[in-house]
Amino acid sequence: MAKEPMRVLVTGAAGQIGYALVPMIARGAMLGPDQPVILHMLDIPPATDSLNGVKMELVDAAFPLLKGIVATTDVVEACTGVNVAVMVGGFPRKEGMERKDVMSKNVSIYKSQASALEAHAAPNCKVLVVANPANTNALILKEFAPSFAEKNITCLTRLDHNRALAQIAERLNVQVSDVKNVIIWGNHSSTQYPDVNHATVKTTTGEEPVRKLVADDEWLNSEFITTVQKRGATIITVRKASSALSAASSACDHIRDWVLGTPEGTFVSMGVYSDGSYGVPAGLIYSFPVTCSGGEWKIVQGLPIDEFSRKKMDETAQELSEEKAIAYSCLN
Ligand code: NAD
Ligand code: LMR
Repeated sequence: MAKEPMRVLVTGAAGQIGYALVPMIARGAMLGPDQPVILHMLDIPPATDSLNGVKMELVDAAFPLLKGIVATTDVVEACTGVNVAVMVGGFPRKEGMERKDVMSKNVSIYKSQASALEAHAAPNCKVLVVANPANTNALILKEFAPSFAEKNITCLTRLDHNRALAQIAERLNVQVSDVKNVIIWGNHSSTQYPDVNHATVKTTTGEEPVRKLVADDEWLNSEFITTVQKRGATIITVRKASSALSAASSACDHIRDWVLGTPEGTFVSMGVYSDGSYGVPAGLIYSFPVTCSGGEWKIVQGLPIDEFSRKKMDETAQELSEEKAIAYSCLN
């Protein structure tokens, strides 16, 4: 029997990530090839023509899974009945700007959209915040939507996770699909800690640790980390715009794994509400290794953490605590 359509909200749908993301959703890349969808697209009034243009293109593409389109600048209409909300709308970072610079513009958007989602989304709606500062926007959304379950508010660090997989695959000249279990700890910012201590590569003889195959701790502990940390800024420098297709694709990966589950033995990185695991202060939205099953994520527990990792995990937690304080000062 055909499935009921799921309603998926994309805010900032007229922007560059939105333009890459909505066709992916309509093709089944987010919720699966047998899951019909109704797209809810929100943007602000100055983007009305552009938003309507995206809607016309979606119609013209005749996606078999796409059962309806709501294109609106009304936040209540956009949020009503949505099962998944991908929050991309906001002000993007431009060349030379630090993420904190965009904070004051974006946290107030997330405060007001929290209330609309809380009041009008479907029960158990899953929220993914993409717009920067992603962790802190998600935290603001959570705090101003107090009846929303904590487990349902997440932020995107899957792009960083995928970047880390890709760097390892390039270095070892292996397929990216054969590398797994890298971890992004912390903030979606240049303090994030990309960790390969538990990562493996599938070889003809089984799974081998990344550290053993790379056999260059100096590279893994320095250049690899900074390349992943700064990849977003590098893309901005060369493209004169922040990443879009890779962000859209990673957003699909995040929701797909959350809803449909992670493969056995594989973990992925998600920004989730900290319960104090691994000594990360509770009450931050922090990127952890997670597995997903039955539509729920769970932090992978019990991984050994060495001194080098501990320091980096604490640094990025510290930045998130500072961002939280700045966000509140912007709102006051
Ligand atoms: P963009 O400027 O092209 O698009 C943003 C869209 O949001 C615009 O169409 C704008 O009109 C709209 N918008 C602004 N205020 C809004 C509001 N209140 N409600 C609804 N829509 C609103 O930017 P982009 O390149 O698509 O990037 C979007 C965000 O994603 C930025 O904050 C960017 O920094 C972030 N980003 C995050 C990641 C990640 O991995 N987490 C990766 C890349 C980009
Ligand atoms: C990215 O990681 O590509 C973006 O978050 C960069 C940015 O700051 O917009």
